[in-house]
Amino acid sequence: MNQERSDTLVLFGATGDLAHKKIFPALYAMVAKGTLTEPVIGVAFDAWDLKQLQARAHDGIVKAIGKVDEKIFAKLASLLRYVSGDYRSAATFEKLKSALGTAQHPLHYLAVPPTMFETVIQGLEQSGAARGARLMVEKPFGHDLQSARWLNRVLHLVFDEQSIFRIDHYLGKEAIQNLLYFRFANSFLEPIWNRNFVESVQITMAEDFGVEGRGRFYDEVGCIRDVIENHLLNILLLLAMEPPVGRSADDLIDEKVQVLRAIRTLTSDDVVRGQFKGYLSEPGVAPNSPVETFAAVRFFVDTWRWRDVPFFIRAGKCMPVHATEVIVRLKRPPLDVFDPIKPGDANHVRFRIDPQVAISIGAQRKAAGDDMIGEQVELTALDDSKGDMPPYERLIGDAMNGNGQLFTRQDASELAWRIVGPVLGDTTPPHLYEPGAWGPADAMAGFGPPNGWINPAK
Ligand code: BG6
Repeated sequence: MNQERSDTLVLFGATGDLAHKKIFPALYAMVAKGTLTEPVIGVAFDAWDLKQLQARAHDGIVKAIGKVDEKIFAKLASLLRYVSGDYRSAATFEKLKSALGTAQHPLHYLAVPPTMFETVIQGLEQSGAARGARLMVEKPFGHDLQSARWLNRVLHLVFDEQSIFRIDHYLGKEAIQNLLYFRFANSFLEPIWNRNFVESVQITMAEDFGVEGRGRFYDEVGCIRDVIENHLLNILLLLAMEPPVGRSADDLIDEKVQVLRAIRTLTSDDVVRGQFKGYLSEPGVAPNSPVETFAAVRFFVDTWRWRDVPFFIRAGKCMPVHATEVIVRLKRPPLDVFDPIKPGDANHVRFRIDPQVAISIGAQRKAAGDDMIGEQVELTALDDSKGDMPPYERLIGDAMNGNGQLFTRQDASELAWRIVGPVLGDTTPPHLYEPGAWGPADAMAGFGPPNGWINPAK
């Protein structure tokens, strides 16, 4: 393991979609802030020249942020190099080696499908380009527990765990960092943050669009693998974990792993799967695909703090709104002293993750007027997110600095697959739902937190 900052970023999959949409805009932002001054070597199969790669990067940045400052872009363009070639050919890695020049500690970023990981890693090792290097890998990290274990073995043949950075871009989001901060930088939450006061936790990730031309990818994955096993389970961990004992990356990850170890393995009773009507006509989707585009899942965390508190996660495509939210609902007051409080009202903590960042406390107050009649209100701290650092910018910077706090460690990746394993694939039927609905209504009847779901507003 090395402690030094990476002195070159090598981007495998440089001509791909992810690079275009997310990575080049992130690199541009880093150059603008002066946090990226190292060479960036794009590697891909396409027989392009550097000019084409620069043009592609420019296009991605324009699409992401609108107006490009050409002076800043010129700086980024001057850092770019391009190596084209087949990942199966030693010649590609020889070219990469010579493009690396005197670099001692490159960061190799594998923005390529996991089926290519082994080939690329072997190429890196055989050419000597893996020496002193770090490795960053994109999701999906495996397809199930067995494939995740196999991938981990492949990675460990060449890189030690401290040099591996498994991305879950959700962890790089400002709102997710805020959730962690809010929990452990305040003292008022701690006395109520347990099974004695919390009735349930619900996490909703709703997207008001479909699979957007990613049918082929999505049909191999489905909602549980795409966002629940990683992004949303990670949110659950931050809500349920104990305070870390120190500030190191492992201190934080150790606490998350403790929660993962305590989460019950799911059974088919813990899940409802749905598929939006029209999914089967999406390009790339198999004619009778049983893949879910919506899932609602119930988790239990068997710790002293959380035993028997249900944690529900639901996520879906073609939902009525685009929003991600967490609701931690507290138990009702023991008596209705005034008018009866409606089921589900009274106290909750709401973390709005997307699109805006907000934290709110739900409470009852007296409605103006003669009678002692209450109304539900929220006390909200809203952050309009201007000036946020986009997740890829934060994560690439962290990986270059060797800071693994926001990445998924091997044990965490395998434990997450252990938990969801039994509900992957077509183990339960996918119920059809209309685009624009909150999933399949009939199948969802009676499935949810006590006193119901709270649908996020637009
Ligand atoms: C990706 C999933 O990991 O996350 C997509 O593959 C999903 O299906 C996306 O749309 C959501 O991320 P964000 O940051 O746009 O909310």
